[in-house]
Amino acid sequence: MAVVIDGKQVAQSYRLKLKEEVARLKEQRIQPKLTVILIGEDPASQSYVRGKEKAAQEIGMDSDLIRLPAETTESELLHLIERLNVDASVHGILVQLPLPQHIDESKVIFAIAPEKDVDGFHPVSVGKMMIGEPTFLPCTPNGILHLVKEMNVPIAGRHVVVVGRSQIVGKPVGMLFLNESATVTYCHSKTADLAAMTRQADILIVAVGVPKLITADMVKPDAVVIDVGVNRVDGKLVGDVEFETVQEVASMITPVPGGVGPMTITMLLHNTIEAAK
Ligand code: GUN
Repeated sequence: MAVVIDGKQVAQSYRLKLKEEVARLKEQRIQPKLTVILIGEDPASQSYVRGKEKAAQEIGMDSDLIRLPAETTESELLHLIERLNVDASVHGILVQLPLPQHIDESKVIFAIAPEKDVDGFHPVSVGKMMIGEPTFLPCTPNGILHLVKEMNVPIAGRHVVVVGRSQIVGKPVGMLFLNESATVTYCHSKTADLAAMTRQADILIVAVGVPKLITADMVKPDAVVIDVGVNRVDGKLVGDVEFETVQEVASMITPVPGGVGPMTITMLLHNTIEAAK
């Protein structure tokens, strides 16, 4: 039976350290501040944004939420970002994704000053991550890496299989584990034999948004399984992994909720403190 990785607890103890760092910065008259921009009324986005605000407040960080109507134009948003880029009281800028159809997501991400890019989505941040230079790392991938290290799972030389190739999770998480000397395989919707690939994983990371995609027969005995999926099924949050059966095979597994989610927000707070420094 797998050990269930308690992301909430790992996140909580990390946030205690961040709270102390915020207090130290305040002694130097620096008040770390995160500004979040939310466009439209998407319920999932609203819930994520509330979580970010609450977490920031808990560690003594200032957080400002700018809510804009779904009809906001691309140019209005770009102007707002330009203003925040030069506002010295704002250390981190996060534009909640996804954006309404009429706004070009890339343009918006490119507009954020790299030194305030606490999401780690700007091409400068992505490029630095790619070559292993210090930079803002994307929050969910970095949270996963931190969680795996915290559980003392060896990474160098192990086979990490990533299912999913999104810009936010799949692609960067593979890169972070490659930087830690893992052997990395990417799988996605066109992969010919997904089960044959996932069965080779020492560490299996799943981020596609398909409930119960990964079943016990697709997991190598004693593998570490990281479930990044957040799906609502019959009003209940579930991941991409069939938890009940896979926990019989794996050595460790993250639950949904309470696994990767709390780590994502923690890494956002970490990045904002680094930006303030
Ligand atoms: N939407 C879902 N995840 C994220 C994230 O990590 N950052 C932003 N900005 N939007 C998201």
